[in-house]
Amino acid sequence: MNLSKFGEKFTRKAGITQLMDDLGAAMAKGDMLMLGGGNPAHIPEVQKRFRERMMDILAEESGFESMIGNYDSSRGNEAFIEALAVMLRDTFGWDIGPENIALTNGSQNAFFCLFNLFAGEMPDGSKKKILFPLTPEYIGYANVGLSDDFFAARRPSIELLDDGLFKYHVDFDALEIGNDIGAICVSRPTNPTGNVLTDAEMLHLDALAEDKGIPFIIDNAYGTPFPDIIYTEAKPLWNENTVVCMSLSKFGLPNLRTGIVIAREEIASAIAGINGVMHLAPGGIGARMAIDLIRTGEIMQMSREIVQPFYRRKALQALDWFREELGPSTDSGQATLPYRIHKPEGAIFLWLWFQELPCTSAQLYERLKARNTLVIPGHHFFQGLDEYWQHKHECIRVTYAQDEAVVREGIKVIADEVRKIYQT
Ligand SMILES: Cc1ncc(COP(=O)(O)O)c(C=O)c1O
Repeated sequence: MNLSKFGEKFTRKAGITQLMDDLGAAMAKGDMLMLGGGNPAHIPEVQKRFRERMMDILAEESGFESMIGNYDSSRGNEAFIEALAVMLRDTFGWDIGPENIALTNGSQNAFFCLFNLFAGEMPDGSKKKILFPLTPEYIGYANVGLSDDFFAARRPSIELLDDGLFKYHVDFDALEIGNDIGAICVSRPTNPTGNVLTDAEMLHLDALAEDKGIPFIIDNAYGTPFPDIIYTEAKPLWNENTVVCMSLSKFGLPNLRTGIVIAREEIASAIAGINGVMHLAPGGIGARMAIDLIRTGEIMQMSREIVQPFYRRKALQALDWFREELGPSTDSGQATLPYRIHKPEGAIFLWLWFQELPCTSAQLYERLKARNTLVIPGHHFFQGLDEYWQHKHECIRVTYAQDEAVVREGIKVIADEVRKIYQT
C-alpha cells in the first residue's frame, strides 16, 4: 500500500505500539501478571454507583433514547459542561464559564489536538516543539506529533530521600526555553513516576510560560478535584495561560472515553473545531453518567473518600512488598541490592530505579515477560530527551492498580529476577 507521510508515521510500529500489542496478547492468554498497563482498578463502590446511575437513566422518560440517539455539540454535552464550570468556579474560584471547556474522546485525544495546535510546522515556516521540563513523562504523548522531532525534554534533578526513596525535581538551572518551544507540558501527578510537582515548581513553570507567551499544559488525569489520586498537598492551578486537561477515566470510566479541556476561550473553541472535523462530536455517555455526580459534588466526595484512599492503601502495600522482597534500602547500610523507589505521591504506579543495573531495562522487561510478568521498561518514558543518560535504562514502571494477589506475585518475580541479574 502506498502511504502518505501521515500514513507512514501513524502506522509505524512504535515502542508503545509494541508494548500495547504485548499487553493485548498477554490479556488474551490470561495467565500473565499484568503490572504493565494503565487500566484503573475496578473499585466496587464506584462501579456500584455507576450501575445505579445507568439504572436511573434507563428509568427516566426517554433518558436512554436521548443518551444513545442524539449527537452532542462539537464542544461536548452542554449540560455537563455547564455543571462542571459551576463546580470548578465554586470549588477553586477559577474564573471560568462553559466557554472555557471542551470535551474530547478521552484526554489522550486532547493531547493530540493540543500538541498539534501549538507545535509542528508554523505558518511562517519555523518549527516548534512541545517541551517536557521534567522527564520521564507519560508514554502516551510520544507519538502524537504530526511531524517528526516534535518534543524537547530536560533531565530532572534527583533528590535522594530517606528509606530508599527519591524524588525528581525540575532542574530550573538547566531549563532554557528557546523560541522553538510552542508549549510546556507536565502531568501532575506524573505517569510513570507518581511524582507530584510542587506548588512552587508549578508557579515557576507557569511564570516561564507566561513570560514566553506560550501555553502551560497541565495533564490532570490523576489530579484534583477528581479522581484526586494525590497523596500529598497540591494546589490546583488554572489561569488564562494554562490548559488543564482532565478525564473521567481514572475515576472509573476509561471505556467511556471522556476527556475535558479547560482553557481560555479561543483554545477551548479550537478544540471544539477539531472535534467537529475529526468526530463531529465527542461521545456523550460518560458525560451523562457523571453529570449528577458533578452537580451534587458527589464526584469530589467519592474521589476523596473512596478512590484516593483505595489507591493510597495499594501504593503503601506495594512499597512494603518491594521492600520485603528486595531487602533493606540503599541507605540502610545493609542493602543487598542498590535500588530506589520514587516517592509515591499520586497516580497508580511505582517507579523503580535499579542503580547500575547490569542489563538494560528493556532486557529486564524481556526476562520478566518470559516469566509471565509484564511491566513497562523505563526508557520509553524519555521522549524528547535525545542525549545518552544511563538512568533511562535503569528504571521500570509497575502498576499497583491490579488485584492484590497479582501485584504480590508480580513483585516477587521482579525481585527474584533483579536479584539474579545483579548476582551474575
Ligand atoms: C498521565 C495520563 N494522561 C492522559 C491519559 C489518557 O487517559 P484518557 O485518554 O483515558 O483520558 C493517561 C492514561 O493512562 C495518563 O496516564
